[in-house]
Amino acid sequence: MIPKEVIEEIRYRCDIEDVIGSYVSLKRAGSNRNGLCPFHSEKTPSFTVFPGTKSFYCFGCGAGGDVITFIQKMENLDYVAALEFLATRAGVTIPNDAPEDREKSVSRRRVYEMNLEAAKFFRSCLFDPVLGREAMQYLTENRRLSGAVIKRFGLGFAPNDFGLLTKHMRSRGFTEEELIAAFLSGRSQKTGRLFDLFRNRVMFPVIDTAGNIVAFGGRVMDDSKPKYLNSSDTPGFKKSRVLFGMNYAKEHCAEELILCEGYMDTIAMHAAGFGNAVATLGTAITAEHARLISRYTKRVIINYDSDEAGQKAADKAMRLLDEVGLPVRVLKLSGAKDADEYLKLYGADAFRTMMAGSHSAFDFKMDKVLSKYDVSAAEGKIRAARELTALIAETYSGVERELYLRAASERLGISVESLANDVARARARRIREAKKKESRDLQLTARNFGDRVNPDAARNPTAAAAEDVILGLLLLYPEHRKAVMAGDVHLSAEDFFTEFGRRVFELISDMERGSDGFSFSALGAGLSPDEMGRLVRLQQDRQALQNNGKEVLSAAAAVLIKERERRAAKDAGDWQSDLTRRRAELQQRKENGTK
Ligand code: UTP
Ligand code: MN
Repeated sequence: MIPKEVIEEIRYRCDIEDVIGSYVSLKRAGSNRNGLCPFHSEKTPSFTVFPGTKSFYCFGCGAGGDVITFIQKMENLDYVAALEFLATRAGVTIPNDAPEDREKSVSRRRVYEMNLEAAKFFRSCLFDPVLGREAMQYLTENRRLSGAVIKRFGLGFAPNDFGLLTKHMRSRGFTEEELIAAFLSGRSQKTGRLFDLFRNRVMFPVIDTAGNIVAFGGRVMDDSKPKYLNSSDTPGFKKSRVLFGMNYAKEHCAEELILCEGYMDTIAMHAAGFGNAVATLGTAITAEHARLISRYTKRVIINYDSDEAGQKAADKAMRLLDEVGLPVRVLKLSGAKDADEYLKLYGADAFRTMMAGSHSAFDFKMDKVLSKYDVSAAEGKIRAARELTALIAETYSGVERELYLRAASERLGISVESLANDVARARARRIREAKKKESRDLQLTARNFGDRVNPDAARNPTAAAAEDVILGLLLLYPEHRKAVMAGDVHLSAEDFFTEFGRRVFELISDMERGSDGFSFSALGAGLSPDEMGRLVRLQQDRQALQNNGKEVLSAAAAVLIKERERRAAKDAGDWQSDLTRRRAELQQRKENGTK
């Protein structure tokens, strides 16, 4: 455990507005600040920072907490690692008095050290004339990569052996737990011993924009499966937050960025002089990726494989990039399955010409619609028009809608006016449906359905609401905590109906009774970031109300106790009626028997 004073010191030195401000652009809103939530896609800001309570909350997605929770979520760190992250930022030293505790959580710095050492190992294997002969041949001959490109991307080779890397890393002082945490070694179920996870694969290190090696992708050199093995998320690495090639592309993508599908395409693009190419890592693009990309560039060219899977993925990328306001064009390569192959066959100049003729996202979709129907016949024309007007209706910008209407009118031979009428109707319908969905969502939340933080709440909304009041008050007011501890207000953990409420109450009580006393931040050690978010909401809800005195606390506690008694009575009742029914059954059977 990190001492409470140190936690408070870190919280004090890391001003929540400063820290969050370095990730999110914040605007003043009364005494608070707001901005676009970094945890979900949105166009109007519902993410709020409350400097007064040193907390944040997103009214859109429910993310919330203090500065530590924010870093946990943003940097994908556990509580202790987030504290270390902030301590470094603030220049606070965390006393190293409990070494056994600290070993359990492997810090991201340590993972980076391991990855760097592993990358050096893989590289020396690749350049080893015996060990790396086949892999080097694969890269230079089959994939036609130059020595310079191989070095620039730090490529390597994981030999076909179960223990070489693990042994090497152990000799460099990395522990077994650390190697497992970094996704470099696995532990054999049978023998309990460590083994190398990457074997007989060419290795692609994934480097973040700060130059840390955060993960690896390893490709087989034949047709065996899986084609790629990727590091799973580790401390300090979340797939959805890193783009392959961004470490170089960030210098070249201020205007335009080329989004590719894979490692090899990205490398081939860079090698051909397109330094603004990046790829996601073994996963489809996420909203988080889209937000990340929007921080680096003004527009995007999607350069996915020409097969069906690639085109489907392009659809998704278009939608997500559009949501963050990035203009998108889509490349459709013909004569090759992907960029890597295209460049090899036709060269960089041909690729550049192709790019100049890339289609706007709408053209791309329009082509797809038109290819489905025979628009020389009335029937096909009507169907195509219906789909196209629906597509245009989805477009946010009026200027764009107008351009698309003209293009569609030309291709279909239908007047702009009649298409525009249909678009207007479709838009009105969309808006109506969106409103309906919004109010339905609100109702659902109100009824606590789908509440992942507190799943028990739906089964007893009355008790859950009382618990929310109690927790909000206890979190906010020391005098209320004292009153409960002293027994002035009758309330114990057993009175809580929901598991979540009970757990939070116990954490608060333990702290209050402990020598360190209560600290909101320290709750983060026992709760998940989502749970912390919920607590901030409870605090905010309470704070917005006038009356937060002891009588409110007592009343809510009374509700809980009454609910508990009602449940107990009902359980007893159920049991009683069960008994009566059983007796009646037995009686019946006896009577039947005697007949
Ligand atoms: P591709 O199959 O298109 O691979 O998958 P590629 O990168 O073009 O590689 P080559 O040209 O066949 O050698 C695209 C991306 O999908 C992920 C990888 O990130 C890959 O770069 N992928 C693919 C996996 O993670 N695992 C797989 O088994 C396959
Ligand atoms: Mn490929």
